[in-house]
Amino acid sequence: MTVIALFNLKGGVGKTASCVNLAYLSALDGYKTLLWDIDPQGSSSFYFKAKQKHSVAAKKLFTEDVDLDDAILETDYPKLELIAADQHAIAADRDGIAGPALDAR
Ligand SMILES: Nc1ncnc2c1ncn2[C@@H]1O[C@H](COP(=O)(O)OP(=O)(O)OP(=O)(O)O)[C@@H](O)[C@H]1O
Ligand SMILES: [Mg+2]
Repeated sequence: MTVIALFNLKGGVGKTASCVNLAYLSALDGYKTLLWDIDPQGSSSFYFKAKQKHSVAAKKLFTEDVDLDDAILETDYPKLELIAADQHAIAADRDGIAGPALDAR
């Protein structure tokens, strides 16, 4: 499994556009691809018209024992799946729990 994360402190430089397009191209190349949106803005999720189910709100993915399979949503594109973001991720970010939790996953 290959994990790719895009990060830049500067706003509006194309992070989201790059993530969405890299994920799409990866799936187009035949790789089973999961785009995990951990930005509370939820822009990647917006691109795919996806909203997370309330039961698996973003913070729970970091703080509770939620099965990731329950959070994965299909997109309109073959081999491309998504874990959508919501504003609960703000708390995970603020409290510094997102990083270690992602490592544990
Ligand atoms: N290669 C590109 N060519 C032209 N426009 C682009 C390109 N990449 C991104 N954009 C546009 O630039 C704007 C900012 O892109 P994007 O939302 O991906 O940035 P971001 O770094 O994720 O921003 P934020 O910090 O707000 O999350 C968007 O309107 C997007 O459509
Ligand atoms: Mg963005």
